[in-house]
Amino acid sequence: MDVRFAASVNTSELLSTRWSPEHALDSTDTCRALAELGRKLANAGFINRFGRLQIDDEHNAALAELALGQRIDVALAARYLGGPQALVALLETGLATITEESQFSLSFEVLSDGKAMALLPFLDSSTEVPADSVYAGTDTWLLRDQAWKYGLHGKRAIDLGTGTGLVAAFLTSRYESVIATDINQRATLTAQLSRELLPESAKSRMHVVTNDVATGLRPGTFDFVCVNAPWVPAHRSVGRIYSQGGETGFELPRRFILEGTELLAPGGVFIALCAELTFLDGSNPLRDLLENFERRGFATFIEPTPSPHPFHAAANGTAETLPGLDSARHVTVVIHRKTGVVVQ
Ligand SMILES: C[S@@+](CC[C@H](N)C(=O)[O-])C[C@H]1O[C@@H](n2cnc3c(N)ncnc32)[C@H](O)[C@@H]1O
Repeated sequence: MDVRFAASVNTSELLSTRWSPEHALDSTDTCRALAELGRKLANAGFINRFGRLQIDDEHNAALAELALGQRIDVALAARYLGGPQALVALLETGLATITEESQFSLSFEVLSDGKAMALLPFLDSSTEVPADSVYAGTDTWLLRDQAWKYGLHGKRAIDLGTGTGLVAAFLTSRYESVIATDINQRATLTAQLSRELLPESAKSRMHVVTNDVATGLRPGTFDFVCVNAPWVPAHRSVGRIYSQGGETGFELPRRFILEGTELLAPGGVFIALCAELTFLDGSNPLRDLLENFERRGFATFIEPTPSPHPFHAAANGTAETLPGLDSARHVTVVIHRKTGVVVQ
């Protein structure tokens, strides 16, 4: 296929178009291009988890390169994304760039477990991480795996602080309705774009909203609630929305645990990834909180993140810099609202 759109499009303008998710969501051609990409990747068996990359169909190596945000020939890109019009739409909304040599690249990489997909935007600069950047990391996959383990029953699920929307996308394979929320509008716009990669059946189950923790959501109506909470103490997180958990790092996880558990329907399960802090005076705010839940009739437990996982060491590291802190470990908190438990 010969795609000479340099002739009809002003490429020098397109080279510098900024990432603009609002405009991308308004553009039918962009949404179609994302849907086409999602379809092609699913058919080719594309998997991109941190540290694991795979594509079943070797003939589609360039498709994998495209999905990783690498440069490929513009004609090939047009084949994968649904034609020249799709490419122009992606370029115009800053979701892609093109070089003078007709090398085309996306401004994001596609995360995928083979079914659930999400896009992770690249940073504008290699040196600065803006406070409102959209996050995904090895803990994203930990949340996905824990959601697979604990999110087993019911119809309605919610992913609080969704980031790219990957885990919410994953939950559409288990739940009829999945809400993805985040306080960071950059994240909710990204999650909405991620939704466009999904097949129609999954897309119609996923709804994205911007809000603060569980504000405005109806209590007692979700069968599964999950969150990968920010847990880094303020002095180490340099204001980044995705990591800053409050002064000690437990203030925001506490809110997620309290407000997220309120959302549980009878029989529902809540999980949160966060750090468990133990202070030199022996106090442990997470344990105190969970004891309180136990007294109210909930079943709770803490599953430590095993040592090969990078977040095992990452949580340990905070203990060295927070005054009064004895130790910190990365954990999954699990809270089950037993059927008979009445929530005041
Ligand atoms: C560690 S990131 C996890 C993102 C995503 N769930 C994942 O696992 O890849 C924490 C997320 O919580 C969001 N967040 C921070 N404070 C929040 C708040 N008060 N209400 C809702 N979301 C919040 C951040 O914007 C960020 O997307």
